[in-house]
Amino acid sequence: MRLLVQITAYLLPLFWASQVASADNQIIIETQQTALVIRVDKDADPTMVYLGKRLQQPTEYGLLTGNGKRGEDYTKIYNSVYTPAGGRNLLEPAIQVTHADGNPSLDLKYVRHEKSDLADGIVLTKVYLKDPQYPFEVTLFYKAYQKEDVIEQWSSIRHTEKKPVRMQKYASANLYLPAQSYYLTHFHGDWAQEMKPEEIQLSAGLKVLDTKLGTRADLFQAPSFLLALNKPADEETGEVLAGTLAWSGNYQLQFEVDPLRNLRLISGINPYASEYTLAPNKEFVTPAFLFTYSASGTGTASRNMHRWARKHRIPQGEGNRLTLLNNWEATFFDFNEEKLTTLFKDGKKLGVDLFLLDDGWFGNKYPRNNDRTSLGDWQENKQKLPHGLGYLIKEAESAGIRFGIWLEPEMVSPKSELYEKHPDWVIKLPNRAEYYFRNQLVLDLSNPKVQDFVYSIVDDMLTKNPTLGYIKWDCNAVIYNAFSATNANQSHLYIDYVQGLYKVLERLRTKYPTLPLMLCSGGGGRVDYGALKYFTEFWPSDNTDGLERVFIQWDYSYFYPAIATCNHITDWGKQPIKFRTDVAMMGKMGYDIVVGKLDEKELSFSQEALKTYSRVKEVIWKGDLFRLVAPYKNNLASLMYVSEKQDKAVWFSYLVSNRYQEGSQAPIRLKGLNPAKKYKVQELNVYPGTNSRINQNPAVLSGDYLMTVGFNPVVDARRTSVVLELTETN
Ligand code: DGJ
Repeated sequence: MRLLVQITAYLLPLFWASQVASADNQIIIETQQTALVIRVDKDADPTMVYLGKRLQQPTEYGLLTGNGKRGEDYTKIYNSVYTPAGGRNLLEPAIQVTHADGNPSLDLKYVRHEKSDLADGIVLTKVYLKDPQYPFEVTLFYKAYQKEDVIEQWSSIRHTEKKPVRMQKYASANLYLPAQSYYLTHFHGDWAQEMKPEEIQLSAGLKVLDTKLGTRADLFQAPSFLLALNKPADEETGEVLAGTLAWSGNYQLQFEVDPLRNLRLISGINPYASEYTLAPNKEFVTPAFLFTYSASGTGTASRNMHRWARKHRIPQGEGNRLTLLNNWEATFFDFNEEKLTTLFKDGKKLGVDLFLLDDGWFGNKYPRNNDRTSLGDWQENKQKLPHGLGYLIKEAESAGIRFGIWLEPEMVSPKSELYEKHPDWVIKLPNRAEYYFRNQLVLDLSNPKVQDFVYSIVDDMLTKNPTLGYIKWDCNAVIYNAFSATNANQSHLYIDYVQGLYKVLERLRTKYPTLPLMLCSGGGGRVDYGALKYFTEFWPSDNTDGLERVFIQWDYSYFYPAIATCNHITDWGKQPIKFRTDVAMMGKMGYDIVVGKLDEKELSFSQEALKTYSRVKEVIWKGDLFRLVAPYKNNLASLMYVSEKQDKAVWFSYLVSNRYQEGSQAPIRLKGLNPAKKYKVQELNVYPGTNSRINQNPAVLSGDYLMTVGFNPVVDARRTSVVLELTETN
């Protein structure tokens, strides 16, 4: 049997251990349920021999047969942990560089590795690799979140060659997964149709998911996927890896079924138009690839992601959120102080925490009365707001409601004072016609002066209005005609842009650590865990049609927790306000309606719903999500949130088909409850003037019964959405 080096240093808090591997060494990276095993062979090539359920006996990792090979690996590095291009590699590389002397090959040998215990049950493993011929080094980082079963992986690249090295590719992670078959679910779409899932069986060769949009990068394709092994993805059974790249720019996810029928997964920044020149002694750090492996289906995978995101990534992920009333769909660009005052007073009457003033409040030389002008000129429009924002904020506060504001700091309108003053701050080619996305252009955040400007837009706003309670940060354009007037290296632009954006956000978060910030992008074209390090919540889609949202939110829920998902009740769609409210409750609820247009019943229903929400929101935001019935294959959608203590649950069910007699014909089996506990089942959000058969005689049932036999929420054409609350009782 091979000699195993068991790494025990991580058992000692904050203790660093450095080890030099001899032949056949293994590096074992574990969470509570998962293990990733790297083996270093006699030639010091680091290969990945295992990613899956953690074994009970770590010594048995030594029995693994290399990479599950079912034939000849001509190169011996099909399963490299970070495949270098140009030498003996025959497959998709993770890294490709041209050395200072023009040599286009790279070899990466294992040097040593270190493990350290960070706070909160996080173990960081660093694996140092080096080219034997060149002073060129790569360090692989694996941060293993023990309790959440999530691994965050990234790499850092540096060299001390005499001149810069050109890097054609520089992935974040390179995984190897042997199985019989592979089913990839990816999520594509466009404006108002974000996150449409598609599951395909991977065939031999390469499948690439990517974006080249620059900003709002995941408009067409999300940087997140589900990869099921041996059978299609299922909610409760089977092996599945949920992965996502934490990068708010061009990304690339590659899935290669290799000649041995094993799967190679390479994820990172998209190399498209992005050759990166790395100077000696400079470090290039890739974004992180996050993944969780589940041996019990997609349900476990998403609960892992949610727990990780709440605890380790999203600001105030375990804190509070504000309900709000937005004026965008109520007024669009057409408002004045009087209208806004009526709206926020109505917001107070409705019972929300905050009024959010959307687009259209700025620009004087070019007033923002439509979407063709003024972005960049962030001064109050004197006609619409003659007394300024400060006045409005005070008025709102004295009416008992907080005030928030919309900004689109990264953008510029061709018709704006900013563009006239600083044409060189705009991303555009000097010798091509300007081409617009929503009539606007993108500011060049690779330029430090532009970074300062963007920072100052927000900082000035908050300095002048220190009680401002919320910022909605929009981003409506993609990058066309990519060219920077100041960047010495045009092929760095896409990367420098995102890094520039993160620098600005980092400065803002340092100064305003608790400010609620919404990540918006003309819908959901920009949500990823790179941006969610700074934003408390995100806008999944402009499509707020209640029925559509059942599907859209369902698919976001694989990766993002309810507390970060902004769901607003608007006038989109044909569903009654109860349906739209029930759907919006499955996340961070808000409104974008004219409250004054609600009839008496609608208003009192909404006021009550907000009170109910404030009572049950903790369960929805911080509980475990169980998807019970999928809307894609059924006439229903049903899902529930269960508190950590299993003493409370909130259960949502919706009719998603209008066919005759459709509805919940049979009991639905619940999940995640404690079988030994008894729960009282009561209906919430009962519409005024209607009776709940469930509340007439509330059932008290054991968790065992509810999970084994189930309960019928009675969803039908007269009860198209039903919300039930389960409370532990004696
Ligand atoms: C796109 C956003 O998704 C909308 O909610 C709204 O803020 C508009 N932009 C404003 O221009």
